[in-house]
Amino acid sequence: MGQNTDGQDLIDPYGRTVRDLRISVTDRCNFRCQYCMPAEGMQWLPRAEILSFEEIERFARICVNRFGFNGIRLTGGEPLVRAHLPDLVERLAGLGVDIALTTNGATLRLHAAALVAAGLTRINISLDSLQRERFLELTRRDELDRVLDGVDSALDAGLQPVKINVVMMRGINDDEIVDFAEYGRAKGVTVRFIEFMPLEAGDVWTDDLVVPADEIIETISEAFPIEPVVRGNEPAERWRYSDGNGEVGVIASVTKPFCGNCDRVRLTAEGQFRTCLFAVDEFDMRSLLRNEASDEAIADAISTAVGTKWAGHSIGQVNFIRPKRTMSQIGG
Ligand code: GTP
Ligand code: 5AD
Ligand code: SF4
Repeated sequence: MGQNTDGQDLIDPYGRTVRDLRISVTDRCNFRCQYCMPAEGMQWLPRAEILSFEEIERFARICVNRFGFNGIRLTGGEPLVRAHLPDLVERLAGLGVDIALTTNGATLRLHAAALVAAGLTRINISLDSLQRERFLELTRRDELDRVLDGVDSALDAGLQPVKINVVMMRGINDDEIVDFAEYGRAKGVTVRFIEFMPLEAGDVWTDDLVVPADEIIETISEAFPIEPVVRGNEPAERWRYSDGNGEVGVIASVTKPFCGNCDRVRLTAEGQFRTCLFAVDEFDMRSLLRNEASDEAIADAISTAVGTKWAGHSIGQVNFIRPKRTMSQIGG
């Protein structure tokens, strides 16, 4: 895994070792999910502001070689709308760490084989409804069939595991919990139900929309017996079906934040470094990358930024400050 060639671990002020880099490759998307973007009028970043593959690779190399990072996840927007994404995957796979992708799956059939050939190891696909009309309403695109085919293409290409991210919203899709569990069991994919977080476009989030993870697990266990799986450093609590038919998970970002185990940092599409999904401060890595800063200087900037990482978000508390940007602008 990560070759910590000349480096030391990157430890934040709360004693957590940072090892996971999430890189957004674009702020653009081919969907307009209600909770993420307005129907029209999104202002996209100009092309010149987006990091090139060379710049991304250099930044990632510093994280891996200096600080022993062991995983990189590509996100967006929708990462597959960035042209030639497999070329980036190939460059990053050369660093010898786990390379994962989070996608909405709509164009995955076109790219799955090339991504795997380039060295992609894992994939997470976002899918919030199995009902065509509802899917259209939620994403403003009539693309359910293409996404389902995208899931099949990930399996055909040999990606393992394939995970499905379902953002659960009260009164909107919480009647589909058992349908999703059945779908996951039938397909051999791991469905993960995610609590809805206040990162949406507009100001629609209230805690009434959050379906607590415990309730989701209760609903699944009434349909299929499940037992807990010991959890690693990941946001999802995992459960296995007692009949051996795969796994299911919940990401309880609101009711049981996993901040205490957080090992991740992020780079936005325009090269801003963030130490938390909900961070208010960003650190400008693009200027360093474009102004001939040395690897040493970039490594120092990363260390300085990680030195400001806070203990965790405070969703639902009075001191919570909503980030100015939405999930698509930060990178999922
Ligand atoms: P795995 O390595 O496969 O477990 O991926 P992941 O769950 O880390 O990544 P993915 O992109 O699939 O994210 C799934 C969900 O986790 C997102 O929809 C978010 O709800 C949540 N999530 C991801 N990163 C963060 C984070 O830094 N903080 C919080 N609170 N939630 C996050
Ligand atoms: N709360 C929880 N998850 C969200 N996602 C996007 N917005 C939110 C939100 N407000 C999910 C997407 C995708 C992942 C990258 O983040 O559905 O699965
Ligand atoms: Fe696109 Fe993902 Fe945002 Fe939906 S949630 S609009 S798929 S970036």
